[in-house]
Amino acid sequence: MSAAQRSPGASWDSPLEASGDHRGEDGGMQTPPSPQGPVDGGWGFQIPGSDYDSFMGRYSRPLATLVADAADVNAGLTVLDVGCGPGALTGELVKRLGVRSVMACDPSAPFVQECSARYPGVDVRPGSAEDIPFDDASVDVVLAQLVLHFVGDPQRALAQFRRVLRPQGRAAVCVWDAAGGMQMLRAFWDAALAVDPAAPDESRHLRFGQAGEIDDLFAAGGWAVLPESTLTVSAAYDDFDDLWSGFLAGVGPAGAYCVGLSEQHRAAVRSQLFRELGSPTGDFSLDAVARCAVAVAPD
Ligand SMILES: C[S@@+](CC[C@H](N)C(=O)[O-])C[C@H]1O[C@@H](n2cnc3c(N)ncnc32)[C@H](O)[C@@H]1O
Repeated sequence: MSAAQRSPGASWDSPLEASGDHRGEDGGMQTPPSPQGPVDGGWGFQIPGSDYDSFMGRYSRPLATLVADAADVNAGLTVLDVGCGPGALTGELVKRLGVRSVMACDPSAPFVQECSARYPGVDVRPGSAEDIPFDDASVDVVLAQLVLHFVGDPQRALAQFRRVLRPQGRAAVCVWDAAGGMQMLRAFWDAALAVDPAAPDESRHLRFGQAGEIDDLFAAGGWAVLPESTLTVSAAYDDFDDLWSGFLAGVGPAGAYCVGLSEQHRAAVRSQLFRELGSPTGDFSLDAVARCAVAVAPD
């Protein structure tokens, strides 16, 4: 059963009110509650790991290899995966280092449970980037893949990264490129905006997707920043429904928005998205570009 078939908003751990039907009194379409301003993490992530996999995991699994390479994760290191989700990056780290050298945390209880189940032996704890539930000076590398734009207080998160890192430890942070680099999300929000110009396009609210933004955050905290890189991955879909079912799972801001719409509004977005993608009749693939920054902690 998809999130849209369940009560809409049931999987949406949003601070905003989410009701099941946003039709106006005349039965017309209304915009559901939208995220405003800096986004604090959590909503759209109280979902089963399998739903995440079919929506974002298609991208975050191949991305994990590139992020681990960018952070130079090699045998002998101890690492922490912050905002691990169901474990796309955790799995890559386990492959390279073994379970005893990998720690992970996430504020989403179902994701913590899923990541623990997938990688027995990895120390996975509930907790956010702003309050990392691990000891001072306990790891060599902190990684946060597709997380920082959901963090309410990124400066505090960086201070926490520094706290848990050993001297000369490094952090690697990556987020999707906001300037059209994540085709799936861009096409979805373009479709949503075509139907409703007030749709809460996440690229307008989420931070760190512009060139140099993560570097600037690190530099402001006194970190030694290496040149930012871009990482490109792609994901394959059997057909349009394979893509659309991911939105119906209610994952992240786009999925949470989608399942919060009335059926009529959601159908209009679906049709528009189909057109945005060139009305695919068979399999297809989409690209996604992430910005990745690596920085060495100040002494
Ligand atoms: C797009 S998912 C990325 C998951 C995983 N890193 C991956 O690459 O597949 C975003 C993750 O950030 C987590 N998150 C949200 N707010 C957070 C915060 N303040 N601190 C740490 N993680 C957070 C969510 O629970 C979710 O697991």
